[in-house]
Amino acid sequence: MRIDVISVLPDMFEPVMGASMLGIARRKGVFELHVHDLRRWALPGVHRQVDDAPYGGGAGMVLRPEPVFDAVEAVTKLDDRPPYVVLLTPQGSMFSEGRAQQIAGLPRLLLICGRYEGFDERIRSLADSELSVGDYVLTGGELPAMVVIDSVVRLLPGVLGGDTSADEDSFSDGLLEYPQYTRPSSFRGMPVPEVLLSGDHPKVDAWRRQQSVLRTAARRPDLLDAAWDGLTRTERELAGGAPDRKPEGS
Ligand SMILES: C[S@@+](CC[C@H](N)C(=O)[O-])C[C@H]1O[C@@H](n2cnc3c(N)ncnc32)[C@H](O)[C@@H]1O
Repeated sequence: MRIDVISVLPDMFEPVMGASMLGIARRKGVFELHVHDLRRWALPGVHRQVDDAPYGGGAGMVLRPEPVFDAVEAVTKLDDRPPYVVLLTPQGSMFSEGRAQQIAGLPRLLLICGRYEGFDERIRSLADSELSVGDYVLTGGELPAMVVIDSVVRLLPGVLGGDTSADEDSFSDGLLEYPQYTRPSSFRGMPVPEVLLSGDHPKVDAWRRQQSVLRTAARRPDLLDAAWDGLTRTERELAGGAPDRKPEGS
């Protein structure tokens, strides 16, 4: 997979994207990352201007359309594969594990990071999708872009230790993950559940599934709505709803 990013702060990426599993995946060639400084396409002049005051007045500056359009057009041409263009904005649809899975199946991704007070509205027309990483406002799209890249790359084949590690993570089947334990088997009066020490794998699987359902119902009942069709009758009862009816509030 090839990932391009357009940003006014390209130096933010390397410390994060070069570290740990992402760094290893990049060195192994699992994905390519190219971060482009938007100022390469700045307006002519000494100030390398990419932003301007908003028409109609108001606080702050917004990204001008010309540099961003030029950048997207130039970066698109760097590879034969047309990119899926994502604009990071708190006004976008909420990024999720499901969106990460969709994007991980694409050959090429181009992320546009906003800054300042945002961007000229016409820039939206460049995007195939607008994504938000949460209902809060950050100073720029760089951290959201890294959130998207991290969650997408870890789904690419060969990035996680075991081939199936991502399958059991929270959200992969619409539910939160079951509780995890490691050694010691008892710590400060808190024992590991007996079943996990039993060596009985079908029993362990059943316990984990049950815990996943219970935990989701307790912590994120809003997720049950989408996961409901994948639950058995017993699991639905466990989740607190009658078997054929979704629990209230989900
Ligand atoms: C200070 S924000 C601008 C917010 C804009 N004035 C608004 O109210 O929608 C600057 C840039 O940071 C990025 N950003 C901030 N919060 C974000 C979020 N929750 N998700 C995705 N991008 C975000 C966007 O690229 C945005 O253009």
